[in-house]
Amino acid sequence: MAVLFITHDMGVVAEIADEVAVMHRGRLVEHGPVEDVFLAPQAAYSRMLIQSVLRLEEPAPQRAHRAERLEAAPVLLKVEGLTKVFAPRKGLFRRGGEAVQAVAGVQLDLREGETLGIVGESGSGKTTLGRCILRILEPEGGSILLRRRDGAVTEVRGLDRAGLRHAHREMRMIFQDPYGSLNPRMTVGEVVGEPLLVNGLLSGEALRRRVGELLEMVGLPAAAAERYPHAFSGGQRQRISIARAVALNPKLIVADEATSALDVSIRAQVLDLLLDMQERLGLSFLFISHDIGVVRYFCDRMAVMYRGRIVETGPTERVCSAPEHGYTRALLSAVPSADPRRRGLGRRSRYRDG
Ligand SMILES: Nc1ncnc2c1ncn2[C@@H]1O[C@H](COP(=O)(O)OP(=O)(O)O)[C@@H](O)[C@H]1O
Ligand SMILES: [Mg+2]
Repeated sequence: MAVLFITHDMGVVAEIADEVAVMHRGRLVEHGPVEDVFLAPQAAYSRMLIQSVLRLEEPAPQRAHRAERLEAAPVLLKVEGLTKVFAPRKGLFRRGGEAVQAVAGVQLDLREGETLGIVGESGSGKTTLGRCILRILEPEGGSILLRRRDGAVTEVRGLDRAGLRHAHREMRMIFQDPYGSLNPRMTVGEVVGEPLLVNGLLSGEALRRRVGELLEMVGLPAAAAERYPHAFSGGQRQRISIARAVALNPKLIVADEATSALDVSIRAQVLDLLLDMQERLGLSFLFISHDIGVVRYFCDRMAVMYRGRIVETGPTERVCSAPEHGYTRALLSAVPSADPRRRGLGRRSRYRDG
């Protein structure tokens, strides 16, 4: 049987296809046996695409030699015993459903300047965990200690509304969907400047100047401020979200599937931008992703989440090269490599609980 398999995922192509055709802007730019195209791409576009994919299969070079410095850094965030239960959902076709324990006693810590990846399949509780840490969702139990800008440590769960609003200056979120998460009625300048304006920190000409600086920091022209988000591509919109997230000079950014909707070449660029911002601004990231490959590129340490629990945690390289938990092994075995020479080396494994 012949199969025409259409996908944006180069890893899957390298893994299963015999021949590949690369399309760009409605044209077929290259066509040939997978080995030829992947190992010696002819068209500039295929070359760029394959380079980005292969680059994301290794740890980011920017991350080398960070471990020692991070070990000496103070703990920024310490979460213990965090739990969140959702009441049964009621619906037309559901009766007496069961409550979902989305986060079940999670413990983690994150140092200043560090990136911790939270990885796990869809429904494992990653988004709920991220939202509970910022108290966008209210957890039922546990503790969330945040080291503040002045060095004092705050129990985030004990904060009242005003206290939480103040803490939110220091911890911000970036979301997945660059199309849905920006208000289409606001100009880019308003989107980026809003946190500064509503917190009463800047206005008028000073605000305009700061927004210009923020846009340039994320690789956009200052003049982008006058346009609307819909005029920008997915990757550019994610840059706008990043500019907005760092406007208040936060310490912690919770990025929830922040690069999952982007094409692979754009994804690499946005990840590199985040690494660059981290160095410049001393940011810490809680980087939530279902994609263990991206976590391996981007994160210093990682935590593997399964059914509301963290089943394994450690330095990214250790977890990826010598996973201890069966679920981590299954996640890793599902990542196809874009190098056709590695085809068939990894054996798929499935994780069965209990
Ligand atoms: N608002 C909600 N109400 C009820 N159940 C929810 C709600 N949000 C998430 N859940 C459930 O909690 C579990 C974890 O979801 P989520 O945190 O979104 O996982 P992930 O981000 O890892 O995909 C899933 O079983 C999901 O169906
Ligand atoms: Mg999610």
